[in-house]
Order: sequence, then C-alpha cells, then structure tokens
Amino acid sequence: MSGVVSEVGEGVTSLKVGDHVVVEPYILADDVDTSESSNSYHLTPGVNFIGLAGRGGGLSENIVVKERWVHKIPDSIPLDEAALLEPLSVGVHGVDISGVKEGEYAIVGGAGPIGILIAAVLKSRGVNVIVTELSPIRRKYGIDAGVVDYALNPAEVDIVEEVMKITNGKGADVAFECTSVDVVLDTLLKALKPRGKAVILSIWGHNPAVDMNLVVLKEIEILGSLAYVNTHKKTIELLASGKVNVAPFITARIKLDNLLEEGFNTLINKKETAIKILVSPK
Ligand SMILES: NC(=O)c1ccc[n+]([C@@H]2O[C@H](COP(=O)([O-])OP(=O)(O)OC[C@H]3O[C@@H](n4cnc5c(N)ncnc54)[C@H](O)[C@@H]3O)[C@@H](O)[C@H]2O)c1
Repeated sequence: MSGVVSEVGEGVTSLKVGDHVVVEPYILADDVDTSESSNSYHLTPGVNFIGLAGRGGGLSENIVVKERWVHKIPDSIPLDEAALLEPLSVGVHGVDISGVKEGEYAIVGGAGPIGILIAAVLKSRGVNVIVTELSPIRRKYGIDAGVVDYALNPAEVDIVEEVMKITNGKGADVAFECTSVDVVLDTLLKALKPRGKAVILSIWGHNPAVDMNLVVLKEIEILGSLAYVNTHKKTIELLASGKVNVAPFITARIKLDNLLEEGFNTLINKKETAIKILVSPK
C-alpha cells in the first residue's frame, strides 16, 4: 500500500503531514531488533503482516502504522507505482539472496506478480532473463516491459532443452521458483548448471516432491527467500533511479465498490489476465 500522511503521533520526527509514503507491513513483537543493522527481523517466529493479520490494510481509507514501518518516497515516484514497492522489495531480496551477477543467466518459474518483479530486478542488474510461464498474456507483459529476454511456454517447448540452447549447453546460473508447482521446481533444478542456485520464493500449500538426486549430483544450492529485511530503502532508490519501471505491471485500477467482481473475482478465476490490480478506497 502507498498513501499520504494525514496525521503524526507525538514524538514522530521522520515524517510530516503530506508526505508520500509506503508501508513495510510487518507485525512484530516490540522486543524484536528491527534496527537498520538487523538482517533477520523477518525471520522472527510469529512474524505477520498488516492486512493478512489485522491492523487494517491497504483497503482502508486510513491506517495507523508505527513510524518504524513507514518509508517516505520522493515525489518522482507516483503513488500508484509506489503501491508495488512491497512486492518489488520481495524481488530485490530474492535477487540479493541469489548472488547473481551481471551477464549471468537466470530462469524464473512463473510470471505472476512475484516472478515478473524478480525479472525486473534481474534486468536492472544486467542479468539475462528466461521465464517459463503458461499464460500468454503474462509472457507478453514480461516481453513488452523489456524485463524478460526469453518467455517460454512449457506447453509448447521443452524448457530444459531451450535453456541449454540459450546458455550454450551450460545451464542457468540461478533459478527462481515463483509458481508453487512441483513440475516447475523439477524443471528449474534440471535447467540449472552444476553448482547453480535455486531460490525458492513460493509459499507452498503442500509438500513438493523433489528429485533429490538432481540436487546432489549437481551440488545445487537451494535457498529460501522470505519477504524483505531492511530492503525498502534500497528498493525506493531503485525505483527512483528509473532502472526499474513497474508501471507496465499495473494492469487495472479499480474502486473499492468494484473490489469483489473486478478485483478478487479476477484474481481467483482468471488471474492469468492480470498482474497487479490497484484498489483505491477513495
Ligand atoms: N517469498 C515471499 O516473500 C513471497 C511473497 C509473496 C508471494 N509469495 C509466493 O510466491 C508465489 C508466486 O506468487 P504470485 O503472486 O506471483 O503467484 P501467481 O499465482 O499469480 O503466479 C504464478 C504463475 O505461475 C504460472 N504457472 C503455473 N503453473 C505453471 C507451469 N507448469 N509452468 C509455468 N508457469 C506456471 C501461472 O500461470 C502464474 O502466472 C506464491 O506461492 C506466493 O504465495 C512469496
């Protein structure tokens, strides 16, 4: 969510009324170290998120948030684009965890909001981006936005063969799993080079079946990536620099009155037609 500060509480020094801001939506116990040097507050047991676990959310007209979790954004970032800063931070954190370098090859499984924003961060760092995605519309969004070099359809081509062709038989340096689908995880492990890294972003509703020999015989590193930790400042700078443009991923803007039909219904029944749907409560 993004918004404008309408009131500040006593003792608040870093914000004033009228500031444009985004919220890093953590709900954490008061004794957790959330200082700028912490790199693990997001891994605290019981961590939760505003909106998912109460305290209002982005669909409210007003919300009260602790100063610590409110980040000022420059005027150069429009408020609607700023609403994508949170998932973009998920992308920045995931790419940081992978350690991928300029000129290397990454394969991203799934071009939903998370996969496509991972692709955008990868592209901003000069990485060659291959995406496997079933939805033709989502593949097109990635190509049209210039964040995907190769958008592959797994229903039409053998993804592993294609990745080998693209990388001259070497395999991808890193992979990002953003579908929570077993066959995609399996494909990514096969498409990686020996000692490649697989970053798992999906939250799984089931325990995926993994062919462990793929991991052992290539000494693949499997890394989890959760949300963000002291990432927002960096993401704000990235967006302000213009190296990432999130505007193409705002595929609809709706009012609260249309939330059920044009918002939730779209994301439940035809999500492949959308990336991010912005809702304005006003
Ligand atoms: N780690 C984190 O911090 C974090 C944060 C937000 C979301 N997530 C998780 O990341 C995952 C992705 O989120 P999202 O919002 O982008 O989801 P999404 O469902 O919108 O996107 C998944 C995409 O995968 C594609 N797909 C499905 N099966 C496929 C197949 N066989 N081959 C190729 N593509 C296939 C779908 O067409 C879809 O576009 C979810 O599991 C979500 O819970 C993780």
